[in-house]
Amino acid sequence: MKVLVIGSGGREHALVWKLAQSKGVKKIYSAPGNPGIAEIAKCIDIRADDIDALRDFALKNSIGLTVVGPERPLTMGITDTFEEAGLKVLGPSKKAAEIEGSKSFAKDLMNRCGIPTAFYKTFTNADEAKGYAERHHPPLVVKADGLAGGKGVLICPAMDEAFLAIDLIMKDRVFGDSGNKVIIEEFLTGHEISLLAITDGKTVLPLAPAQDHKPIYDGDQGPNTGGMGAYSPGPISNIIQDRVMKEVMLPVVKAMKEEGRPYKGILYAGLMITKEGPKVLEFNCRFGDPETQPILMRLNGDLLKIFMAAVEGRLSRVRFGWDKRTALCVVMASDGYPAEYEKGIQIEGLGNASKMKDVVIFHAGTAIRDGRLVTAGGRVLGVTGLGLGVKRAIKKAYKAVEEISWEGAYYRHDIGSKAVK
Ligand code: AMP
Ligand code: GLY
Repeated sequence: MKVLVIGSGGREHALVWKLAQSKGVKKIYSAPGNPGIAEIAKCIDIRADDIDALRDFALKNSIGLTVVGPERPLTMGITDTFEEAGLKVLGPSKKAAEIEGSKSFAKDLMNRCGIPTAFYKTFTNADEAKGYAERHHPPLVVKADGLAGGKGVLICPAMDEAFLAIDLIMKDRVFGDSGNKVIIEEFLTGHEISLLAITDGKTVLPLAPAQDHKPIYDGDQGPNTGGMGAYSPGPISNIIQDRVMKEVMLPVVKAMKEEGRPYKGILYAGLMITKEGPKVLEFNCRFGDPETQPILMRLNGDLLKIFMAAVEGRLSRVRFGWDKRTALCVVMASDGYPAEYEKGIQIEGLGNASKMKDVVIFHAGTAIRDGRLVTAGGRVLGVTGLGLGVKRAIKKAYKAVEEISWEGAYYRHDIGSKAVK
């Protein structure tokens, strides 16, 4: 079968890397892909949100399965367009993807279903939002309603910061229309975990848990990014994971079906494990980046078969397992990310690093210029290593990171360290 993977980040490189190991895969295309993906798949020059052009390509090239990486095409309705054309696609419909596209929709859904989450209120008016904030004790969490590339959540330790955050979103409109509504939320404490599940709309199967590292600096300091590193398995007991399946994942999939938005594809729950139990921070309608890199490095199973079963409603008959080792991904980023950064800087040392055993280097923001590999984005590489136990996985990944360099390369030094403590 011919497969199309949409997107150009580390997550998509990991999807292509794992799909390439499936016997049933004859050829992989990626749109637009990246230089790492180009080593295993044919990259085509179509943007991830050019839905009509992607559909035409898929029809013309008899694509048997399309896998959508990023959220934007999903919230724009790529699945609906592809299915109307008779194409198979892994990912939720436009109406189902609202679970990520609108945080207020997700919060209201959780409320209706009694799914544990932080207290909140939604506002369309900045002054009313401030009035509400004033009646609550900081820290407060201020969130833009719509998509913001993982940057739309502002943690505000003091009231004036909450006011600034509300103005930033609603008056300065730094996230554009995504800031038409703002959510003010109770600040939760505990440890964070990402649990992803695959569903055909009826059966819901958990993937291995992972822990992301969202803030830019060591010790979880500084502004949030898309994710600076992740490891799997993340710190969650089987008992808590079962609770998340029973209290969160299954009720969501059931409710979405009942409300006329059947959910199919990957459902990602960002969770805070609090003293009172797991609470949902957010839902995503797709694989996480960088969580996918360590998760898929541990998957023992045929990814094409799993995906096709999800698309065709046969997931109840599917089984897969996980490598006992820990996989850990360190994101190497451009200096300045998540704000402004320079591009086009030559990357050195990838050859040696990629020859290391149990190491895979997933490309994200890279490009080829004059035959050389250069930086082309904020998150540049996801250096992922496997080791028995988190300490060995850390050692493996960082050893490979040390082989790689470019002017202004930045990475966190403490990915996985919370698990060691
Ligand atoms: P989100 O995009 O909603 O996952 O938020 C990004 C990050 O902000 C999360 O990974 C958490 O670290 C933090 N965060 C979001 N909501 C809350 C909350 N209610 N309490 C504490 N931290 C939060
Ligand atoms: N790593 C967080 C996300 O993919 O949203």
